[in-house]
Amino acid sequence: MKLAVIYDSRTGNTEKAAEWIAEGMNGVPGVEARAFSIRSADEAFIKDSKGVVIGSPSYCALMTPEMHAWMLGSAMNLELAGKLGGAFATEQYTHGGGDLVVQSILVNELVLGMLCYSSGGEYGLPYIHVGPVAVNSNMEAHNSLENYKELFVIYGGRFAKKATELFG
Ligand SMILES: Cc1cc2nc3c(=O)[nH]c(=O)nc-3n(C[C@H](O)[C@H](O)[C@H](O)COP(=O)(O)O)c2cc1C
Repeated sequence: MKLAVIYDSRTGNTEKAAEWIAEGMNGVPGVEARAFSIRSADEAFIKDSKGVVIGSPSYCALMTPEMHAWMLGSAMNLELAGKLGGAFATEQYTHGGGDLVVQSILVNELVLGMLCYSSGGEYGLPYIHVGPVAVNSNMEAHNSLENYKELFVIYGGRFAKKATELFG
């Protein structure tokens, strides 16, 4: 089963987070996961995917304008309806709006007819309420994107397991 992770990223943090999710997905037997920038998304692979996870940096607590334009444009032609959907974000402040970015991506996915999933409390700790958010070390010396790698890999694995249960 194919799964896609799609992101916008200017300085590489969200790209790295997307790769971690794909890594977690690829740990589930029978899954082929790939991560794509919105600038080079493989349309055929995404159309063939049973699940799609979408991520953006927090820009003033919103998804980037480029991601929003992509969701209102290209995403409409990718046959996303009926696929499992998830969302993630990166940010530079612990309270930098990442959860709001995740929420707004999920709302866009619902409008596109996707079935949204975060894992929530299904697997116990770590709880992932709406989607994973990673904080980089730009402004908070105690933080590091790498601190969140395990969470993103776990999320990818859970998402792939659910997609396999539903569509495998
Ligand atoms: C225009 C702009 C607005 C931003 N607004 C926020 C913000 O509201 N909250 C926050 O925590 N980080 C904010 N950031 C920081 C980015 O979200 C953060 O560095 C992110 O990890 C960048 O992702 P990227 O490396 O994938 O481009 C902003 C960055 C830019 C360039």
